[in-house]
Amino acid sequence: MPSLEPLFLNDERRKTSLATGFTGQDILSVSQFDRESLEHVFTRAHEMRELVDRAGYSNLLKGYILTCLFYEPSTRTSASFIAAMERLGGSVIPITQGVQFSSVSKGETLADTVRTLEQYSDVIVLRHPEIGSARVAADYSAVPIINAGDGAGEHPSQALLDLFTIQQEMGRIDGLKIAMVGDLRFGRTVHSLTKLLVQYDVSLRFVSPEILRLPLVLMNEVKDAGLNVRETHDVADVIENADVLYVTRVQKERFNDLTQYEEVRGQYEITTELLERAKAKMVVMHPLPRVGEIHYSVDSDPRAAYFRQVKNGMFIRMALLAMVLGKA
Ligand code: NCD
Repeated sequence: MPSLEPLFLNDERRKTSLATGFTGQDILSVSQFDRESLEHVFTRAHEMRELVDRAGYSNLLKGYILTCLFYEPSTRTSASFIAAMERLGGSVIPITQGVQFSSVSKGETLADTVRTLEQYSDVIVLRHPEIGSARVAADYSAVPIINAGDGAGEHPSQALLDLFTIQQEMGRIDGLKIAMVGDLRFGRTVHSLTKLLVQYDVSLRFVSPEILRLPLVLMNEVKDAGLNVRETHDVADVIENADVLYVTRVQKERFNDLTQYEEVRGQYEITTELLERAKAKMVVMHPLPRVGEIHYSVDSDPRAAYFRQVKNGMFIRMALLAMVLGKA
């Protein structure tokens, strides 16, 4: 399997803060966000929720065009960025139905594709299978690039919506015990969320098969931040104390050897029986899609937050688009 170690984004040059503002910024990694700017995003996301509840629609981004350029499959990320742009009155060029229908299939490079699409649009949301691809695109693009997943690297807008959901559901972030379950090695949502959580006073529990443990570089970040952290192979070890159970899918597409995937898939399933042992006030989250990690009978449990999490994604993406386009 490919090594993840040297490729994490940690570019201080692109650090976003309220001092410099978000206008015109690329959003490539969660390391661009400090606690103050996170609060700013969350406040804007609250306003977007109110806007949608009250009116459903605004003209804030009228005349602006977003290109969604997706080299990997997506349902939620692409649809929520499109919904976000359209609810703010903007328009979308959707290259989300498979780049095989674009000139990528003729051999066009990412650089040329991006340099073309920036001629038509004001912001580009990019999903691509290679770690670091969003950075490459940003180096070529004069318009902001929002990283919607660069291989097994990062997925910053997902982590923002995940953290926003934790705050919404639990009323706070500091003081919580957060357990992440599943593919911690290849799960980019886990990587980005972990990098955000090191800024808070949380306890972290990482539950995975041995070969899918959190990359060392991230574990070191967690330890350097002085957080209470433990790794285990067994959900039973964390279920009673967890305030947040963040469950993930094993990322089949990242395995070179599918027999290894078969060995680790299906190792975890969150069931109603398991949740009987969990706190009355806690949340079960999942970035989705799920492929067996959470039994459907869990969906009616009020602690199952994953579809509320989906909706929060639209509000966070409305906020991000308005912010990078200088309208928030
Ligand atoms: C995630 C992703 O693409 O990384 N999906 C998403 O954006 N909600 C998680 C996954 O595919 O398992």
